[in-house]
Amino acid sequence: MASVRFETVSKVYGADSRALSDFSLDVEDGEFVVLVGPSGCGKSTTLRVLAGLEEATAGRVFIDHTDITDETPSKRDIAMVFQNYALYPHMTVFDNMAFSLKMRKLPKEEIKKSVMETADILGITEYLHRKPKALSGGQRQRVALGRAIVRHPKVFLFDEPLSNLDAKLRVQMRNELARLHSRLKATMIYVTHDQAEAMTLGDRIVVLKDGYIQQVAPPLEVYNNPCNRFVAGFIGSPAMNFFKAVVSNNELSLLNGSLEAAETANGIYTVGVRPEDILVSPQGQFSFSVEVVETLGNEKVVIGVTGSGEQITARCRPDVDIHPGGELHFDVRMNKIHLFSVQGDERKI
Ligand SMILES: Nc1ncnc2c1ncn2[C@@H]1O[C@H](COP(=O)(O)OP(=O)(O)OP(=O)(O)O)[C@@H](O)[C@H]1O
Ligand SMILES: [Mg+2]
Repeated sequence: MASVRFETVSKVYGADSRALSDFSLDVEDGEFVVLVGPSGCGKSTTLRVLAGLEEATAGRVFIDHTDITDETPSKRDIAMVFQNYALYPHMTVFDNMAFSLKMRKLPKEEIKKSVMETADILGITEYLHRKPKALSGGQRQRVALGRAIVRHPKVFLFDEPLSNLDAKLRVQMRNELARLHSRLKATMIYVTHDQAEAMTLGDRIVVLKDGYIQQVAPPLEVYNNPCNRFVAGFIGSPAMNFFKAVVSNNELSLLNGSLEAAETANGIYTVGVRPEDILVSPQGQFSFSVEVVETLGNEKVVIGVTGSGEQITARCRPDVDIHPGGELHFDVRMNKIHLFSVQGDERKI
């Protein structure tokens, strides 16, 4: 186990493909950090620079306070688990897991003990003699995990390891990973574009956009206090609603109504409201025309358009009687609204 430090790391591929800019991050020993962001934002590049698979264009990388920026990958003692498993197809599960230990020339008995113990943790003991092609996706991903675990690396890196699994298996493996982390107490850096995975797995979340860090904070902090409109819209599902609003003399006018807004400077803002902070009620002062109703069993997600033509999504109880073409009245949970500047998008309140 080890701490990791990125110090103003940048990566430019070729002449001008800028993937990562001024990336600085301290990961504590034993911490689970999740890098999240849309496709192409630099997540894999960050892991590859740490693993030594790509050379940083600028900046330094440290593991346990040792500068490893110019160290070869094999000397870094890092294990990486990928989306596509990258197992050796001609080897059995046992040999796949034992491979790195054999390369290190560990005694046979020790290798066997280590593989058996890890297979037991991951529930793949009965498949040890099989080849990867005779396994399901979830089982293959467990083998890939096992291959990383037996090495006892200083740092685990995961690059979208669950993306190839179906929805149910993803959730199951996600829980197993969380359990594995509390059991191994290892330093883990995990990449995903799935905000639900980031929220549920990370001690801290790093939100990236276009190669720049937007926010680094524990999941609930990111959810409750997103630092700008991008983070606000990226974290949370269904996504936050955004409306244009005007503040004038302590009054915030938005949609077809107004709210009190003491201590807010006059001007134009973007207001963010999470779907669960839209309080559906027949007496509500706001309303929108309903276009789609998603009945999920435990709740309804209602999507529509406001009088001023803005898209809106609300969550409500499953027994609310609402249909496409209808009108839904609501209030807004005022202490939960987010105000962003229109120009810079940064958070105002
Ligand atoms: N070998 C390369 N040569 C040139 N540009 C590259 C190379 N690898 C990545 N890039 C560019 O760098 C940027 C970041 O890529 P990266 O693979 O880190 O994104 P990512 O966040 O992992 O995306 P995804 O979610 O799609 O995997 C992208 O714009 C990508 O096109
Ligand atoms: Mg990637």
